[in-house]
Amino acid sequence: MSLASIAGAAVGALAASMYLDAKFHIRNDLRQGPRKLGALLGMRYVAQKMRENKLLYYHVLEDRADTAAGDNVAIIFEDRQWTYRELFHAIHPVANWLLKDLGIKKGEVVAINGGNSPEFLLIMLALEAIGASGALLNCNLTGNSLVHCVKLSTSRYVLADRDVEKLVSPVESELKDAGIQTLYYSPSFVETLKDTEPLPKERRTGLDPTATANLLFTSGTTGLPKGTIMTRARPLLLGKAVGGYLGLKPGQRMYTCLPLYHATALMLCTFPCLFTGATIVLGRKFSHSTFWPDVHRSKATHIQYVGELCRYLINQPPTPLDRGHNVRMAWGNGMRPDVWERFRERFGIECINELYGASDGMSITMNANRGDFSRDAVSVHGPLWHLMNRDERRILVDPATQEVIRDKNGWAIEAKADEVGEIISRMDVADPDKGTPQYFNNHSATVKRRIRDVFRKGDLWFRSGDLFKEDSDHRLYFIDRLGDTFRWHSENVSTNEVSDVIGELPQIEEANVYGVLVPNAEGRAGCAAVIFKEGAEKMDLAALAAHCLARLPRYAVPLFLRITKSMDHTGTFKRQKEKLRSQGIDLTAIKKSGDDQMYWLPPGTEAYVPFEQKDLETIKAGQVRL
Ligand SMILES: *[C@@H]1O[C@H](CO)[C@@H](O)[C@H](O)[C@H]1NC(C)=O
Ligand SMILES: *[C@@H]1O[C@H](CO)[C@@H](O)[C@H](O)[C@H]1NC(C)=O
Ligand SMILES: *[C@@H]1O[C@H](CO)[C@@H](O)[C@H](O)[C@H]1NC(C)=O
Repeated sequence: MSLASIAGAAVGALAASMYLDAKFHIRNDLRQGPRKLGALLGMRYVAQKMRENKLLYYHVLEDRADTAAGDNVAIIFEDRQWTYRELFHAIHPVANWLLKDLGIKKGEVVAINGGNSPEFLLIMLALEAIGASGALLNCNLTGNSLVHCVKLSTSRYVLADRDVEKLVSPVESELKDAGIQTLYYSPSFVETLKDTEPLPKERRTGLDPTATANLLFTSGTTGLPKGTIMTRARPLLLGKAVGGYLGLKPGQRMYTCLPLYHATALMLCTFPCLFTGATIVLGRKFSHSTFWPDVHRSKATHIQYVGELCRYLINQPPTPLDRGHNVRMAWGNGMRPDVWERFRERFGIECINELYGASDGMSITMNANRGDFSRDAVSVHGPLWHLMNRDERRILVDPATQEVIRDKNGWAIEAKADEVGEIISRMDVADPDKGTPQYFNNHSATVKRRIRDVFRKGDLWFRSGDLFKEDSDHRLYFIDRLGDTFRWHSENVSTNEVSDVIGELPQIEEANVYGVLVPNAEGRAGCAAVIFKEGAEKMDLAALAAHCLARLPRYAVPLFLRITKSMDHTGTFKRQKEKLRSQGIDLTAIKKSGDDQMYWLPPGTEAYVPFEQKDLETIKAGQVRL
């Protein structure tokens, strides 16, 4: 008998509902297993691949090209597609260009700057095939941020998609002065490359699994982007682990229109598909008008999402394409509670597979949700899971200062059921840099994520920077980024919780909640930037206030409302809060940045009214108590 069935039998005597519940948790916990075991098995796998000198996707593709599986489709992009064999052969001319024309050396970092295209993937795989590394720039960057990322990456070249020339060309001469050359690629350029000579084997042997395979960049919402190191071993490990978890296999097709320069599309779609022999259906970019047509045409079985993408999709009027597709699983992160079930029902997708993880994080959790119990959660962690995973805890932190809260003896305090806490992960004190997130050429940023003396003298933990709640049924929910939660009237307000409540209203297209500084008041007051759906501009603001007052404690009801027409997002559709937060309730700054209108909910009232300069003056003069 397996451990799971013994455990199941042991609790069989309990009442039926308890039995089901306990069995669910035990099975679920055992399936997830201890993180340490996963890490150990991963290390063994990497060691074996090192001995075989087969650490690369080049090797995965090479092996497959020689078999019948070489005929399976690897990539579909618009009206072009590549089988695995074709993809393998297509790498060679690109790699020979890098090798012979550009003289790229083993271990050299080369910046790639482009949106989603097969050429982007070919360049990345070609760099890998010659033992070099790709710094995957966010192709939306311009000016200073772009120059910063290129210089940080140590690249001699920026290989940029012809499509982003307008953004890159203004800094070309500045890059040139720093010894960095910009070259543009396009499908027709890649077609002119013809040199299919075998690539030197020496480039793919003796590779260090801890060396940099790729650099991914943080979105830099607070300051300049940082480069996150993806080690040589990581793509293969993730491809294997995620491909196995999703049960991907040849014939299955995962559609992604998220940018390849971010971890979600690269590590959670591209590598798992390539590893398992499934098909990547690559969308150029997200657009609600092409999303379902692309999914239907490609017969995708899986779609990749981020929460805001799902919100856009359910905000569109229904069409016949909502149903009749082949999608059985939506896989991604950040699906919000006000969207989750509506999304599943409207599009008839059986499994919402929600994940939490970060390219510069240590913790990763998943929830293949099919019913009510684990809906809205990022995972279910039963008692057994906690026993097996004592190296991951949730601790109390002060959201205003981001400091860890300590007891009278100076130790951190674990969050109990229903308490909000930050997830931290134990690090190896003797070798803290091994297998942990590293920022490229920025050790001080790397160590800033760490904290010592948490539960005993000398221990070392990694801070996720993310707040979670686990309820008494062991469901784990993502609450907020630590830096986004704010304090008002001595209460902690999660920006996500407030925007979820506003998002329940059918007239709302999108809501972005943040805390603003207010003269003469402690903490930050809530402000909601909202976009109304077309035709709903005349929404009764008293109804909006009534909804918030009914659904939220008073301190969490946004004191300010900023009605806007568009919202800034990162490349993965995360809402940008930094600019809004810094403009706060400064009416001059708001006016300068567009024609947004400010409203507020004066103390004691129950309807939003225009917020004007005279109101700001009374607040400044301390004449109103907020
Ligand atoms: C807000 O968070 C801080 C830090 O976790 C905590 O000490 C405080 O009790 C919280 N306030 C409320 C009202 O929950
Ligand atoms: C390193 O990271 C810190 C933020 O943690 C940033 O202030 C600093 O500019 C970074 N240094 C470089 C060289 O990018
Ligand atoms: C970034 O660039 C891509 C590709 O050109 C584009 O589709 C996307 O809308 C841009 N994203 C942002 C946040 O500007």
